[in-house]
Order: sequence, then structure tokens, then C-alpha cells
Amino acid sequence: MKVAILSGSVYGTAEEVARHAAGLLNAAGFEAWHNPRATLADVQAFAPEAFLAVTSTTGMGELPDNLQPLYSSIRDQLPAAWRGLPGAVIGLGDASYGDTFCGGGEQMRELFGELGVREVLPMLRLDASESVTPEADAEPWLAELVTALRG
Ligand SMILES: Cc1cc2nc3c(=O)[nH]c(=O)nc-3n(C[C@H](O)[C@H](O)[C@H](O)COP(=O)(O)O)c2cc1C
Repeated sequence: MKVAILSGSVYGTAEEVARHAAGLLNAAGFEAWHNPRATLADVQAFAPEAFLAVTSTTGMGELPDNLQPLYSSIRDQLPAAWRGLPGAVIGLGDASYGDTFCGGGEQMRELFGELGVREVLPMLRLDASESVTPEADAEPWLAELVTALRG
């Protein structure tokens, strides 16, 4: 199964988590693809069969600048071929931001909803105020994702 990993990151943490996820998914027998500067055409050329979004949050609950263009073009076009595909989101944030905690991840969940991508696992929220080991923290959730995508 081909899994497109869409990542948004300001300082590189989410990008590291995305890279780690790609390694684990590939080790589990999936074909994971991750390009932090992917365009809509790049994603469509990969012909994904599942999605994983990994994004941090900046500003007041906003998506990082490197994910904004892809987010906007997906939203404008809503590719019909992606309807019904399985997907899941890892949101990175900091709970001290209160209401906007993991707002970037929430935006990707909403986008998946508009696309008709099925959320197969509740969003993982990685809180920078609680932990400095986000890649390791994501591992149990990624193991659940592997099971969900196989099922
Ligand atoms: C200027 C700035 C604004 C932020 N705004 C939010 C926010 O609104 N909500 C949130 O949950 N986290 C917020 N964060 C926390 C980051 O999302 C968090 O530290 C994350 O781990 C950074 O990941 P990155 O290195 O991939 O950008 C903000 C951080 C900075 C520096």
C-alpha cells in the first residue's frame, strides 16, 4: 500500500517525526513517500492509497508556511480519486497555547473530512511542553496505524 506523508514544519521537529514514520512504515512493508516540499502534482503522481499528515502549529493555530501551498491547492481541487482512502494525522503543538493546541493538525483533519479521506485512528497530539522525544512518543501510535491500514 502506497502511503503519502504530508508534512508541515517550522523548526524541523514535525519533519523529523514524518521521516521517522516513513522509515517505520517502509519497514512494515508499506511504500511510504515523504517530500516536505511536495506539490499537489507530486502527490497525485505518487498515486497514494493512504495518507498520513504530520504537522506542527504556528502563529495562532496555523499551518507552517511549507504546508500552506499544498493545503490550499488540495482544498481548491479536492481530487476525487482520494475519496474514501484511509488517513490519519499527527499534530505537533504546545498545550500552553490553549485553544489553538495542535490547530495545524486540526486543519489537516478538516481537510481530510472535505476530501472524504477516512480517519482510521484518532489524531495523535504531541505536546512540546510535555516531551522532548516526539519521534519515540509517536511509535506506539504508528504501530496502531500499521494495524489499522492492514485491516
Ligand atoms: C511562534 C510560535 C507559535 C506557535 N503556535 C502554536 C499554537 O498556536 N498552537 C500549538 O499547539 N503550538 C504552537 N506552537 C508550538 C509548536 O507547534 C511546537 O513547538 C512544535 O513542536 C514545533 O514543531 P516544528 O519544529 O516542526 O515547527 C508555536 C510555536 C511557535 C514558536
